[in-house]
Amino acid sequence: MCGIVGYLGNKKAAPLLVEGLSKLEYRGYDSAGVAILEDGMINVSKCKGRLKNLEERLNEKSYKGSIGIGHTRWATHGEPSDVNSHPHTNSDVTISVVHNGIIENYLKLREWLTGKGYEFLSETDTEVIPNLVDYYYKGDLLEAVMKATSKMEGSYAIGVICKNEPNKLVAVRKDSPLIVGLGEDEYFIASDIPAVLNHTRDVYLLEDKEFVVIDEKGVTLYNEEKEEITKEVYKVTWNADAAEKEGYEDFMLKEIHQQPKAIKDTMTSRINLDSKIALDKINFTKEDLNNIDRIYIVACGTAYHAGVVGKTAIERLAKIPVEVDIASEFRYREPLITEKTLIIVVSQSGETADTLAVLRDGKNKGARVLAVTNVVGSSVSREATDVLYTWAGPEIAVASTKAYVTQLIAMYIIALYFAEVKGTLSNEEILEIKKEMLELPEKVEETLKHKETLQKFASKTYMEKDMFFLGRGLDYAVAMEGSLKLKEISYIHSEAYAGGELKHGPIALIEKGTEVVALLTDENLRDKMVSNIKEVVTRGAKVMGIALEGDTESEKSLDSVIYIPKTLTILTPVISVIPLQLLSYYMAKQKGCDVDKPRNLAKSVTVE
Ligand code: F6R
Repeated sequence: MCGIVGYLGNKKAAPLLVEGLSKLEYRGYDSAGVAILEDGMINVSKCKGRLKNLEERLNEKSYKGSIGIGHTRWATHGEPSDVNSHPHTNSDVTISVVHNGIIENYLKLREWLTGKGYEFLSETDTEVIPNLVDYYYKGDLLEAVMKATSKMEGSYAIGVICKNEPNKLVAVRKDSPLIVGLGEDEYFIASDIPAVLNHTRDVYLLEDKEFVVIDEKGVTLYNEEKEEITKEVYKVTWNADAAEKEGYEDFMLKEIHQQPKAIKDTMTSRINLDSKIALDKINFTKEDLNNIDRIYIVACGTAYHAGVVGKTAIERLAKIPVEVDIASEFRYREPLITEKTLIIVVSQSGETADTLAVLRDGKNKGARVLAVTNVVGSSVSREATDVLYTWAGPEIAVASTKAYVTQLIAMYIIALYFAEVKGTLSNEEILEIKKEMLELPEKVEETLKHKETLQKFASKTYMEKDMFFLGRGLDYAVAMEGSLKLKEISYIHSEAYAGGELKHGPIALIEKGTEVVALLTDENLRDKMVSNIKEVVTRGAKVMGIALEGDTESEKSLDSVIYIPKTLTILTPVISVIPLQLLSYYMAKQKGCDVDKPRNLAKSVTVE
């Protein structure tokens, strides 16, 4: 996720662009930049780091131009660096572009343009855009942008300026947000409304493939056929703070709802039905994998829970033994690490001290370390042997939701890749898993519709002192995550137990009225789980079940039930965790807790 802005009016563009970007930093903040058209030249200022670094540079330059574009970045293709920052330009700096999204076919386009003599400086997917526009530019910027975008696959919201048409800004979107702000003799484009709210409350909310031309005549909108279109002006009635959360009350709720997109983005260019699984630049040969005698997945908290699912996925699909461990324990337990060990560290922030220590120790002992992280350029990503990014976008709420589901996706991608290279699954089996994976975003979307039922459940139970989460197999891994979510944001004491373990002690805690959430979505273990539910019901527990659609039988032993769509058992955690995230969210809200910033917790734990 990144944020883009653009301005054309009668004031100096640079400070207005920076102000707009400051309202979009929630979309990314690893680098920022602007391009200002002034005295017939495009001037680009961009740098790695927070927006204040850019502001310092701009203070030195004091641009006067009143047209420009700006960008705040959350790196996906290429680490955060000055050269990878936006805006990007063609070689002779006559065209400049800011972009939010991912150009999936950028490697093909880059190759094609290189063949035509174009040169590239950055590692980004975006840099193909100004060069493609340049290729098609014959004196009409809109026409060139239309032709260029017709060749682009993936998602984009772009703003484009051109030296030869110094009073024009062209913009368009596809699968990435973009709005136009309509001020008095001044106009804006932005990824989101907060960027323009200090200047106007009148905006156009653009749809896919609607093109915008801003020039001395004002704003003109076009469809793909280059026909002028009209659009209703949307009057913004809410404040900037609410807008940043896109109408959701909290970042956590917004991030829960972003999960279908985060899952889709993480699979982009890695899971395709007609090609082999791609692990970005990572390469393991069959020999490499046969040489690995064990894998350790090491992480903390929620990321550790993703690792527990990862263990099952890799063992079942790729037939390599996996141990999963908590980083703070692993590093002191004298684990057996050799050159034959593969360590997979999982970390949303990429900065967790214990996880980083495991990575360093593992590398010192000769192990190959594969990092799964959400932050390009983080310590973990820089120091690991290989990196697979989750493309969840910045996660602001302390409690992890969208990062967790994308970590699960990363686990499946790794497991499938290993299985493909080792030949432990047939092509048909791999295809079936891929097909099911591609359907996950839709199934998660469907599961989010249960929010009202969960809200009602929360309003009845939020005063509980304790809650228990039960599951077996993969359901146990998800129960652990559900329990962690509940305790960290609602401060209700909760425990997760493996269903079969209850009778070995924990069942002593069950009494009349004890609230239990039981997962029955691991089809192989469902019947056994029903027996475990009966054990707690007999002792007076009230049980809410998370079951698969069609499993009406299970209702008999449950007080209430949430049905989730079916998928392959191995993939079910991606769906079954959704009701548990919503449940903890609504419990915490009922209690009046600050869900985005729970007490005593930090987003990134950089101390031991
Ligand atoms: C819980 C949560 C934490 C993190 C843990 C590891 O919602 O977010 O448990 O998962 O602190 O953090 P990362 O993934 O940044 O290493």
